[in-house]
Amino acid sequence: MNYQEEYKKSISDPEGFWGAQAQALDWYKPADQVLSIDENGLYRWFKGAYTNTAYLSLDYHVENGRADQIALQYDSPVTQTKRAYTFRDMRDRVAKIAGGLKKLGVLKGDTVVIYMPMIPEAVMTMLACARLGAVHSVVFGGFAPHELAIRIDDAKPKLIVTASSGIEVDRIIPYKPMVDKAVDLAEHKVQNVVIFQRKLGALVPSKDYDIDFETMVASAESVGCTPLEATDPLYILYTSGTTGKPKGVVRDNGGHAVALRYSMEKVYGLKPGDVFWAASDIGWVVGHSYIVYAPLISGVTTILFEGKPIRTPDASTFWRVISEYKVNVMFTAPTAIRAIRQEDPNGVFIKAYDLSSLRLQFLAGERCDVATLSWTRKQLGIPVIDHWWQTESGWPMLANLAGLELLPIKEGSVAKAVPGYDLRILDEEGDEKPAGAEGYVAVKLPLPPGCLPTLWEQDQGFKDSYLSRFPGYYFSGDGGFKDADDYLFITGRVDDIINVAGHRLSTVEMEEVVAAHPLVAECAVVGVNDEIKGQIPLALVVVQQSQQNFLEIGNEIISSIRSEIGPVAALKTVVQVKRLPKTRSGKILRKLIRAIANKDEFSIPSTIDDPTIVEEIKEAIHPNYKQTN
Ligand code: COA
Ligand code: AMP
Repeated sequence: MNYQEEYKKSISDPEGFWGAQAQALDWYKPADQVLSIDENGLYRWFKGAYTNTAYLSLDYHVENGRADQIALQYDSPVTQTKRAYTFRDMRDRVAKIAGGLKKLGVLKGDTVVIYMPMIPEAVMTMLACARLGAVHSVVFGGFAPHELAIRIDDAKPKLIVTASSGIEVDRIIPYKPMVDKAVDLAEHKVQNVVIFQRKLGALVPSKDYDIDFETMVASAESVGCTPLEATDPLYILYTSGTTGKPKGVVRDNGGHAVALRYSMEKVYGLKPGDVFWAASDIGWVVGHSYIVYAPLISGVTTILFEGKPIRTPDASTFWRVISEYKVNVMFTAPTAIRAIRQEDPNGVFIKAYDLSSLRLQFLAGERCDVATLSWTRKQLGIPVIDHWWQTESGWPMLANLAGLELLPIKEGSVAKAVPGYDLRILDEEGDEKPAGAEGYVAVKLPLPPGCLPTLWEQDQGFKDSYLSRFPGYYFSGDGGFKDADDYLFITGRVDDIINVAGHRLSTVEMEEVVAAHPLVAECAVVGVNDEIKGQIPLALVVVQQSQQNFLEIGNEIISSIRSEIGPVAALKTVVQVKRLPKTRSGKILRKLIRAIANKDEFSIPSTIDDPTIVEEIKEAIHPNYKQTN
C-alpha cells in the first residue's frame, strides 16, 4: 500500500484500520470495541482489551525467540561505562524491581515518580511500574525541586525513585538533596524515596523515608505482569502548558502500544532485530516513546546514551555510538546537530567513522532550520527527515513515512499527516484555510490511538485546553500551513510555550518567577532566536522605585529561575525597561517584543497604547540599536 492509500483508509475507517494494526500485538484479551466514547464524552481506544506494556516490551520477546538479543545498550561517556542487556536480562531485573516496589506497597493504579538520570535502572523502573500496573511519572532531571514538588502534589505518588546523582559532562549533580527538598516543599507526603546509589561524590545523609534500591531488589521476589485494561493509564508525563502549571498528559496502555509499534514500522522503517537510537532523555516524551517503549515493543535494540552531543568528550561522540552499535536509524533534536556543526563544520569526525549501518536520520522536538537539515544530509549522505509531534500525541503527527513510501523531501516542511491524523489548518472561526495560507494546526477528532485520552484527573481541563477552541478538533498550539501538495510547514507556537534546546518551557511560568522578585513591578518573558538552542528566554523587567542597582536584580532573577524552574530554562538575559508595550486594554504585546528582539520586520499594532514605546524597547534590547540601524 502506498502512503495515499494507507492515509485515506486510516481516516475513512479508523476502527477498521486500527483494529487491523492491533492484531500485530499479543493481547491477553482482544477489544470488545475498537473505538468508543466514555462517560465523560472522551474517545477511548480498545475498550475491553487486556494487555500489559511491560509484557509486550520484554516477556513477549523472551518467549518468542529474542531472549538473547540485546534489548538495551547503555553507553555512558560521562562515567566511561558501556553495558548491554538482553531481553532476558531486562525481563529478569525488571521483574525483581517490580517485586521490590510491590513489597513497598505499590499496587495497580498507584503512582510512582521517577527522577533519575539516564541510567538503565531508570528504564527498568519505568518498566517495573508498567509490569505492576502502577502509573509512572518521570520528571526530567534538569528541573528544580520546586518543579518536582508541583508534580508530586499533582500525581500524589506513593514512592519516588531516584538516584544519588546525575552527571552533566564533568559535573556531578546531586539528585538526592533535590528530591529531599521537593519532598519538603510538597504538600503530598510520599511514603518512601528509593535511591539507586551511583557511588559518585559524597554520601548524602539519609532520611527516615529512604530505601536503598539494591537492597530492595536483593530481597525481592520476581513478579509477573498484571493484566491491565487497554484504557488503564501507563504513565503521566507533565509538560508545559499555557498556564503557570504543567499539564499531566496521560498515556494509556493499549492504544499506546498499537500506535508505537505501527510508528516503528511505518514512520521509522524499522523491523525486529534492528538498532534504533533516540538521543533524547527519558524525562521527555521522545525518551518515553522512542528510547523505552517503541523499540522494545517492536523487538528493536535501543541505545541509552548518558552524554551530550559535544563535550563528552567532543563532537565525534554521536558518530562513535552509531558505528560502534551499528545503529540503523537515529533520532535527535536539531539543537544537537547545530552544536555538533559548530564544533565540526566540515564533518571531519563524521568521515572518521564507518556509518554504513545508518539508513535514516530523523529530527524533531523543535523547528529545524533548512541550513541544519541540509548540512546533516550532505554530511551523512542519507535521507534526513524532519517530523513533527508533541508530548500530547506521543508519536509522530506529521512525517515522511520511510517504512511505507519515502516521499520527496521538501526542506523546511515536516511532510504529510501521518495515518490516523486528520490534520487541518484552521482560521480563527474554525474554518479550513486554503493551501498556502497560515492558520492554526488542528486535528479532527478522534485522535488516533497513542494520543492523550485526557489529562491526569482533569477531564474538564483537557477539554478546556485542547478541545474547546475549535469544537470537534484537537488544537495543537502550533501555527502552520499546507502547500498545494499537502506538505505541512510548521511556523511555531501561537501560545506562550517556547522550545529551548528541544526542552519545552512556559514563559508564563517564568514570568511568575520573575514577578515574584520583590523589586519587580512588571515583566514579560519571550522566546528569542538562538543560533544553537533554537530559542532562549529573554526577560523584560520594570522595577519598582529602588536604589538597588539593576545588575544585582537581574542576577537574582536569573538565579531564581534556575532554582525555581531549573537550569534548563537557561534564562541569561534580563533587560530593564521603563514600561512594557501594551494594548489600550492593558494587554502586554509580547509578539511585538519578540519581533523587536529578533530584529524581525513588524508593523506596530493598531491597538497599541502608545506607539513611542517601540523605540524605547528597541534601545533597551539592542543598546547599540541607533548606531547599527
Ligand atoms: N540534570 C541536571 N541538569 C541538567 C540536565 C539534567 N538532566 N540537563 C541539562 N541540565 C542543565 C545543564 O547542565 C545546563 O546547566 P548550566 O546552565 O549550569 O550549564 C542547563 O541545564 C542547560 O542544559 P542544556 O539545555 O543541555 O544546554 P547545554 O548548554 O548544556 O548543552 C546542547 C547544549 C545543545 C548540547 C544540549 O542542549 C543538547 O544536547 N540538546 C539536545 C536536547 C535534546 O535532545 N532534547 C530532547 C528533545 S527531543
Ligand atoms: P514537546 O511536547 O516537548 O515534544 O514539544 C512539542 C512542540 O515542539 C510542538 O508543539 C512544536 O511547537 C515543537 N516541535 C516539535 N517538533 C517540531 C518540528 N519538527 N518542527 C517544528 N516544531 C516542532
